Amino acid sequence: MDSDGDGVGDLRGIRSKLDYLQWLGVDAIWISPNFPSPMADFGYDISNYTDIDPLFGTLGDFDELLADAHRRDLKVLLDYVPNHTSDRHPWFIAARSSRESVKRDWYIWRDPAPDGGPPNNWRSNFRGSAWQWEEKTGQYYYHAFLKEQPDLNWRNPEVQEAMLNVLRFWLDRGVDGFRVDVMHHMVKDTDFRDNPPNPAWRPGMSPYRELVAAYTTDLPEVQEIVTKMRGVVEEYSDRMLVGEIYLPVERLMAYYGASGNGAHLPFNFQLIGLPWNARDIAAAVERYEALLPSYAWPNWVLGNHDKPRIATRVGAAQARVAAMLLLTLRGTPTVYYGDEIGMHDVLIPPDQVQDPYEKNVPGLGLGRDPVRTPMQWDGDGSGGFTTGQSWLPLADDYKTNNVAVERQQPTSLLSLYHRLIELRRAEPALSVGEIAPLPADNDLMAYVRKTAERRLLVVLNLGDNPQTFNLAYLKSRACLLVSTHLDRDHEKLADDLELRGDEGVIVELL
Ligand code: GLC
Ligand code: MG
Repeated sequence: MDSDGDGVGDLRGIRSKLDYLQWLGVDAIWISPNFPSPMADFGYDISNYTDIDPLFGTLGDFDELLADAHRRDLKVLLDYVPNHTSDRHPWFIAARSSRESVKRDWYIWRDPAPDGGPPNNWRSNFRGSAWQWEEKTGQYYYHAFLKEQPDLNWRNPEVQEAMLNVLRFWLDRGVDGFRVDVMHHMVKDTDFRDNPPNPAWRPGMSPYRELVAAYTTDLPEVQEIVTKMRGVVEEYSDRMLVGEIYLPVERLMAYYGASGNGAHLPFNFQLIGLPWNARDIAAAVERYEALLPSYAWPNWVLGNHDKPRIATRVGAAQARVAAMLLLTLRGTPTVYYGDEIGMHDVLIPPDQVQDPYEKNVPGLGLGRDPVRTPMQWDGDGSGGFTTGQSWLPLADDYKTNNVAVERQQPTSLLSLYHRLIELRRAEPALSVGEIAPLPADNDLMAYVRKTAERRLLVVLNLGDNPQTFNLAYLKSRACLLVSTHLDRDHEKLADDLELRGDEGVIVELL
């Protein structure tokens, strides 16, 4: 939400929408980077970690937002970007000025290869070599993302101290925690060995993935840093760390820390990447649950600012089933803004592209602008997002697909989200209960969430044909609580539970 008409969302804008978030029933919000930045990667290139970019407001605005959120029992997480700074950060300006600079070793510098080229084959996520030549000092520096985002050298104790103090700065101000950007990237191989080729790479995939990032991500030493971050968070009461980590789930588990001294929640992105069918998803849930260490709390994510939206990936009808899945699985659910009203990816005309990823690697559908378009608040000219010209174009369906309209419709997707969140808050079986998968065939997926007192059965139809789920073997009376269609409340069920295509239900077992 934009408060000042410049077309860009800001802190006062968010503050003006806390009523809505409270009504929806969310517990915590994560705000993408709001610190001073040249915006080469829209805030993920930070030039000062302890201030607010004027585009988004002031420190005073932030304090007011935080106080207002806390008055409503809403927690606020900030986006902590430890892997890289902006090339305009005073640390990097000093580091690049001379080889003798006291900040030189705060970044990763290497001599050229014998032929004068980059020191090894490491690639940038955003295209080409990860090494940028600096004529002035005759060395290359490493950047896992844009050349405007040089990687910090976390092996340097001074970097560690300065960056951990950034956490303290915001924790002292009262923030409830952080989402930690690309946590698995923080340490690189000291021998600078070449990354090996990836046999699974196919044309059309990101060129970055042609190599396996074996020597640039997920090194064992990352865990030491994560533990230190956790240590800082533990200096305060009731704060948390969420790690952004794209790794296979068996590797993800390490980020909880060897004894639960890592991230509270290493983001679990499986629902974003898996094929949308009952077999694959049911198998992934079981596997994830089985891999979780005893001290680990699970979490599930349907979308974020980097990946295609759920409504676009699975279609409007399945987006309702996805909502029920997300909000009935065991673990903290994360919802990306607008997914609760069914926002879909917006096609961005080439001359309006903002994302540097799309500009560098065009045409592969990797660009992220389509999922970052203005929140559709109402049917006004700008979707109620701004009084000015929004920084990205608005979806064409904003007149019918918006918060104001959907709040009035008893069976809208927004009403479904509202209902499911309300139920999850009211039912310990859904929030903290165990999960027990049940066998189901065809397009069905089924599980029970339970506490000692209560059993709730969830049956989801991930296909568009009607299906029948046999309840007889559960040997209990059953009453329907909620359908994704919001039209079957209190229905008494006999032996056969009939589901329509694209329908999910939550059933009380009595
Ligand atoms: C993370 C962010 C992404 C950003 C990148 C570099 O993946 O989610 O938006 O471009 O890190 O900071
Ligand atoms: Mg603004």
